[in-house]
Amino acid sequence: MLVIAIAKGRFLEPSLAVLDRAGVRFDEDVTDSRRLIFDSSDGQCRVILVKPTDVPTYVEYGAADAGITGRDVLLESRADVLEPLDLGFGQCRLVVAAPNGASSADADRPIVRVATKYPNVATEYFNRRSIPVEIIRLSGSIELGPLVGLADRIVDLVETGRTLRDNGLVVVDVIAESSARLIINRANYQTKRSEIVGLVDALEASAPRAGRA
Ligand code: PRP
Repeated sequence: MLVIAIAKGRFLEPSLAVLDRAGVRFDEDVTDSRRLIFDSSDGQCRVILVKPTDVPTYVEYGAADAGITGRDVLLESRADVLEPLDLGFGQCRLVVAAPNGASSADADRPIVRVATKYPNVATEYFNRRSIPVEIIRLSGSIELGPLVGLADRIVDLVETGRTLRDNGLVVVDVIAESSARLIINRANYQTKRSEIVGLVDALEASAPRAGRA
């Protein structure tokens, strides 16, 4: 049996949809349950529901053979996993943003204060540019940081751009493009090769915009 970790939240329905098209289906409504483990109707797969940022952890440690999560989460986690497929949904950008009109003003600051859920990505971005940075780790509502004087800039996801716009922030730089990715445990790829290759091929064939990552 293949164990697949999928993320609760906004990725849940599209993840179930791509699995459904690849033939991984369930007798019950996964979205309408508090259970966290579901076996597929044909008994070939088991899906476990985890927090989006935990998907790479379950896969890296082999508690799940495969997982579906955003590229943004993978960049931040630095998990040592295989990433064979872009599943073609969940497109967004990981950006640096600042209050509209403030992007050059804070160049004088000795240290840029950056609020983010992505401390590793943000640190790497500013270090690479030799910009002294203080990372302020938040878990949500990141856009609030510059509005209340907590931070000069943010590093966060932008999907439609509405949250930035509604809070008077503008994109200063794009760090990475993101979308949903299939990830695979390295060791299990060897031991369960035919099942995993079957899943990768079925997902690639059935997801409308999937492609090799
Ligand atoms: C995400 C992200 C932005 C927002 C971007 O937050 O962190 O805040 O979505 O979407 P938009 O460009 O379409 O407006 P999420 O909704 O996950 O909530 P959070 O504040 O808890 O991170």
